[in-house]
Amino acid sequence: MRKKLIAGNWKMYKTTAEAVAFAHEYKALASNAVIEHEVAVCAPFTQLAALKEAFAGSAVCLGAQNMHYEEEGAFTGEISASMLAEIGVDYCVIGHSERRQYFAETDESVNRKLHTAFKHGIVPILCVGELLAARDVGLHYSVVSEQIVADLVGIPYTDVERMVIAYEPVWAIGTGRTASPKQAEEMCKFIRSEVTNIHGIDTSAKVMIQYGGSVKPENAKEILGQPDIDGALVGGASLLPADFLTICGS
Ligand code: PGA
Repeated sequence: MRKKLIAGNWKMYKTTAEAVAFAHEYKALASNAVIEHEVAVCAPFTQLAALKEAFAGSAVCLGAQNMHYEEEGAFTGEISASMLAEIGVDYCVIGHSERRQYFAETDESVNRKLHTAFKHGIVPILCVGELLAARDVGLHYSVVSEQIVADLVGIPYTDVERMVIAYEPVWAIGTGRTASPKQAEEMCKFIRSEVTNIHGIDTSAKVMIQYGGSVKPENAKEILGQPDIDGALVGGASLLPADFLTICGS
């Protein structure tokens, strides 16, 4: 039985004070709730240390949203994996479509980041997904297949088994237009079969595959009820403690 992971992706929202207030409110609400899934919050870099402290003693794990693939060096403005590991970051979102779209992230840099994350004991949440134009012409499976194959080059099965892959159709991110549970399940199942092709069925049965894109309290239960969907990567709806908690408890 695979566990499910609900990860909030806060993107470029909240000051540190607001982040800490969220943590306290979430913890208070969660103390009266039954939550069977693993929960993580992927926050901006400046909030991570304060959130580590604010979530201490709770089951909420901490994630970053990006990192550099080099160990260290003259890369002004960048953050390394060891800097994240030092804070106690558990997860790091890698290859989010916004980074691919606005910050020239490529499958090659994504792949290098995955290697570096594993080296530092950080579990990557690898994001893949097609643009609307690709889905409209029926190319969504081949786009996602190419991403999976390129992003996982050289990653041993022992690491793939403990990573997270998030299927995020770009047309469903922040648009309010969710993929139907059937569309989400079909692609997550396809991603699992791609992992089977690379590493075999034992590995693909273990890898955690999330859906992301306009997940809300109202649709979380049906999405999380699909057999190949092992959780959700939640943007907008993770910013309010009550909404996020409802999704975590779905
Ligand atoms: P959304 O974002 O839930 O606001 O659509 C999801 C994401 O970008 O991870």
